[in-house]
Amino acid sequence: MVSVKRLFLSGALFLLYVCPLTQAANVLAFPGEHSHWLNMRIILNELVQRNHNVTVLVNAASPSIDYSRSERYHFLVYDVPFDRQDYEAMNNRFIEFWMYEAQNASVLQIGLEVKNLMQKMNVLQLSVCDAILRDQALVESLQRVKFDVLLADPMYMCSDLLADVLDLPLVLSLRMTFGMVLERHCGQMPAPPSYVPSVPLAYTDQMSFFERVHNVFMYLLNDVFMYLHCLTTVNPYYSEIKGTPTTFCEIMGKADIWLIRTYWDFEYPRPFLPNFKFVGGLHCKPAKPLTEALEEFVQSSGDDGIVVFSLGSMVKNLTKERGNTIASALGQIPQKVLWRYTGEKPETLAPNTRVYDWIPQNDLLGHPKTKAFITHGGTNGLYEAIYHGVPLVGVPLFADQPDNIMHMTTKGAAVMVDFNKMTSQDLVDGLNSVINDPLYKENMMRLSRIHHDQPMKPLDTAVFWIEFVMRHKGAKHLRVESHNLSWYQYHCLDVAAALLSVVLLITVVTVKICTFCIRKCFRKTKVRQKTD
Ligand SMILES: *[C@@H]1O[C@H](CO)[C@@H](O)[C@H](O)[C@H]1NC(C)=O
Ligand SMILES: *[C@@H]1O[C@H](CO)[C@@H](O)[C@H](O)[C@H]1NC(C)=O
Ligand SMILES: *[C@@H]1O[C@H](CO)[C@@H](O)[C@H](O)[C@H]1NC(C)=O
Ligand SMILES: *[C@@H]1O[C@H](CO)[C@@H](O)[C@H](O)[C@H]1NC(C)=O
Repeated sequence: MVSVKRLFLSGALFLLYVCPLTQAANVLAFPGEHSHWLNMRIILNELVQRNHNVTVLVNAASPSIDYSRSERYHFLVYDVPFDRQDYEAMNNRFIEFWMYEAQNASVLQIGLEVKNLMQKMNVLQLSVCDAILRDQALVESLQRVKFDVLLADPMYMCSDLLADVLDLPLVLSLRMTFGMVLERHCGQMPAPPSYVPSVPLAYTDQMSFFERVHNVFMYLLNDVFMYLHCLTTVNPYYSEIKGTPTTFCEIMGKADIWLIRTYWDFEYPRPFLPNFKFVGGLHCKPAKPLTEALEEFVQSSGDDGIVVFSLGSMVKNLTKERGNTIASALGQIPQKVLWRYTGEKPETLAPNTRVYDWIPQNDLLGHPKTKAFITHGGTNGLYEAIYHGVPLVGVPLFADQPDNIMHMTTKGAAVMVDFNKMTSQDLVDGLNSVINDPLYKENMMRLSRIHHDQPMKPLDTAVFWIEFVMRHKGAKHLRVESHNLSWYQYHCLDVAAALLSVVLLITVVTVKICTFCIRKCFRKTKVRQKTD
């Protein structure tokens, strides 16, 4: 009896030890959209699980956050002067351009399209900022709740400014901003262009001389773009809201923790800072059983197994021609294919392929019959594949996707095909390679083992640092001093200038002394010669 009691007590003590009680706190979340939201939602659910009171700030036109659903966290909805259709029109234009038109476009056309898109994005971003920060009643009601932390996705611009206005510690959650501009400039993350490739170049960490030239050029291009954007738009806005001159990077650079949605199973080894934490794959979990109908279809594949196919939640349809090319390729493999696709059914769809509006992707990838995953290369899907050890055929479409797939290709776990140029045969070849060549599976299993062998699960790491920031009211001890340095101090140009001056001075003095001596000696010998 006593031993049972003791066992119970030690069990309770153990539980106390492994999950230190944290006082329930108030968390404010400022999420992004689409896959960004799906990722953050996992963190929010875990925070609720740990008794925190979570409030999600969401705009009324959000294309991906269904705030009418009852959740365990609260939604705080604010109005914006645009609606869901505006959002979707912009998304569709973006997708269509990058999926189809960019291939044949000149640099000028791409530049104009990017400028056009940026202008529209800007209007949208600033109206979101206005809707929150210029709404005195909203800001005051947020102040009244006394939040302990703001968890934000920098997909929307003003979350850092809101943290500053509310005087809250800030935790950012992101995969990577375009060309790592924000991490490098606002986060002070070091990124040597000699071995850290820039997006969207899709180079690896081993670059030839000309690739490095290209890479340096891309860094500069991103920097100039960001500099001009900040100078003309963001900095004036931030200064106006704050009432004192400030810059975007100064405010964003106050972020206490940067939660990066990748890990070393995916990234090339490279320098990072103490307040950058890696939580890639935090949304992954063991597979749940499939529904009966799905399981039946999967089992009908026999020893050949199945292929899972999704181009993500943003791409709803394909052109007829591309749809048919893909469908006829899928019909040529012995595996059964589950394709997430909401567009019109391609005419060449074969009996081994079924299309679904939605698939339980994580459960399918974790199914023992799954042989390969055809993906656009979004980070969420990639991590599910790494988690379950499923080799990939990558069909990158836009944004960071080519870069993501390139990472997996260099690690030998994926084959990349070009969405626009591929023939049915290319896709069939890619699939046959990753399914029949055991090297792809082995490489993916190696990444999977690296992923699972971490001191703490990614979700626990994310929640730990959010709670850490709440307990300590920030994480300033992890903040590098380079935030306070000017660019010439950071690169030690002032030191170099000083050292150079000293060297120059010594050289000049030495030369002067030498010439003086030589002249003196010379004159002496001359004098001696005369007296002789
Ligand atoms: C939880 O957050 C809501 C705001 O969404 C706030 O009204 C409420 O007072 C908070 N609850 C506690 C216990 O702080
Ligand atoms: C791009 O150009 C190629 C060759 O000129 C052509 O076959 C293809 O249809 C074009 N693609 C688009 C989307 O216009
Ligand atoms: C996809 O559907 C949207 C809306 O129905 C349409 O505007 C767009 O042109 C379609 N895209 C393609 C590639 O067919
Ligand atoms: C660096 O800057 C921060 C705020 O920008 C300030 O709080 C801190 O005291 C500065 N550190 C030094 C050593 O000046």
